[in-house]
Amino acid sequence: MATSPSSQASVSGTVMATSQAVQIRNLNYFFGLGDLTKQVLFDINLDLPRGQIVIMTGPSGSGKTTLLTLVGALRTAHEGSLQVLDQEIVGLGSRKLVGIRRNIGFIFQAHNLFESLTASQNVEMAVELKGEFQTKRSQAVEILEKLGLGDRVDYKPDSLSGGQKQRVAIARALVNQPPLILADEPTAALDKKSGRDVVTLMQKLAKEENRTILMVTHDNRILDVADRIINLVDGRLESDETLETFVETHDPKTLDRRMFIM
Ligand SMILES: Nc1ncnc2c1ncn2[C@@H]1O[C@H](COP(=O)(O)OP(=O)(O)O)[C@@H](O)[C@H]1O
Ligand SMILES: [Mg+2]
Repeated sequence: MATSPSSQASVSGTVMATSQAVQIRNLNYFFGLGDLTKQVLFDINLDLPRGQIVIMTGPSGSGKTTLLTLVGALRTAHEGSLQVLDQEIVGLGSRKLVGIRRNIGFIFQAHNLFESLTASQNVEMAVELKGEFQTKRSQAVEILEKLGLGDRVDYKPDSLSGGQKQRVAIARALVNQPPLILADEPTAALDKKSGRDVVTLMQKLAKEENRTILMVTHDNRILDVADRIINLVDGRLESDETLETFVETHDPKTLDRRMFIM
């Protein structure tokens, strides 16, 4: 089997690597049943090549979080095709979906830390999923240090600031070196500098370690880290552009109003 260490190292199974980390075709998604059915995603087509950092933006309620949770195998799609790390996940059973999720790092706006565990223990839990008990502490400390939390590893969440808690959640998402990282407004709770530090780290990971990152954000201060910006409006992908085209074709004032409302 042809293996490229950078793209296949942490993908389980014996699948062959393609250049796409995510490939979405004609994807529709509905909430509710019967008369109460509401379609929230319409005919989504999207490729996320390995090593790219793609920012998804769009008005509140446009379906960004829904799309992210579908790609992350946290909910199941009904119609279309959704290939994640070379596996078709539409129609996949829940046990297989769990396997897919092991290769994905999730960063949510709400950090979801365990309050009774220290920063290090919160991160160690993720390492335990891989069965690496001997080195879990050193792996956790190493990533926390990278995120500027070297002096906070044994603090519990209630003794950490909002930004520090978010960085612990980011450490937990990254510690197992997942090939695909999904982030839903990861900098929303951070001040300007920590927000910048976080995305710079994510950009470094994407470039140096060939990770693929799909990040929802309203934070226009960090758009420059993206290889591409996609815009979701009313459940439809409206545009898919490079940063240069995006900036050239949008009046900053309309862009602020239309794209970055929370
Ligand atoms: N669990 C749910 N049940 C029913 N409707 C939902 C649910 N979650 C989200 N929605 C609806 O789906 C649409 C898209 O929501 P969401 O994906 O959260 O948008 P965004 O992240 O872009 O703000 C919204 O109209 C929202 O009200
Ligand atoms: Mg959302």
